[in-house]
Amino acid sequence: MAESPNVRWHPSDFAREERWEKIGAQGATIWFTGFSGSGKSTVAVQVERLLLEAGQPTYLLDGDNLRMGLNGDLGFSAEDRDENVRRVSEVARLFADAGVVSLVPLVSPYLAARQRAREIHHAADLRFIECFIDTPLEVCESRDPKGLYKKARAGEIKGMTGIDDPYEPPVNPELVIDTTSGTPEELAQQVIDFLNS
Ligand code: ADX
Repeated sequence: MAESPNVRWHPSDFAREERWEKIGAQGATIWFTGFSGSGKSTVAVQVERLLLEAGQPTYLLDGDNLRMGLNGDLGFSAEDRDENVRRVSEVARLFADAGVVSLVPLVSPYLAARQRAREIHHAADLRFIECFIDTPLEVCESRDPKGLYKKARAGEIKGMTGIDDPYEPPVNPELVIDTTSGTPEELAQQVIDFLNS
């Protein structure tokens, strides 16, 4: 892990277990990967609702939303996507450490970057659940909620994931969600069931 020179870790007065016990919750990260338009955010929003209703602190770290702030300086080159995933991984790790369930809907198309996200969590002894939103490209393209596939096909957008930029599906994800059957709430329940297993 990279770090700045001449810095030293300053510990909290509370070990993680004590902090979690005080707030009565346990942190984890649920990472949703899949094509744009696959339904990552739709499922994540329902997971958020179900968890919050059950009293579990939860926070959505949505790729599109974070690109309006923290990651607003990044584009869609391979380097920028890697940096995007790295930053969100670190933020999710902090939230999880705090006792929050971080929900991370991010295209995150490259295997190696997602593997690093997993390692960042495992190195911190935190749960990382990779949830593959396995919606076929044709379905995402027919939905085209933001009109991006149409633009990519017309050559107005370069480097669109699935069109002229690769998507590397997860090899061994904890969860695979088929969004072509089931309501978002039913799909979210599958995620919660796994989290609670
Ligand atoms: S990632 O590849 O770096 O993980 P991220 O999830 O943050 O992507 O952002 C993807 C979102 O940006 C998509 O949902 C879509 O709305 C938008 N977007 C704009 N250009 C592209 C592109 N070239 N490829 C994929 N998504 C794009």
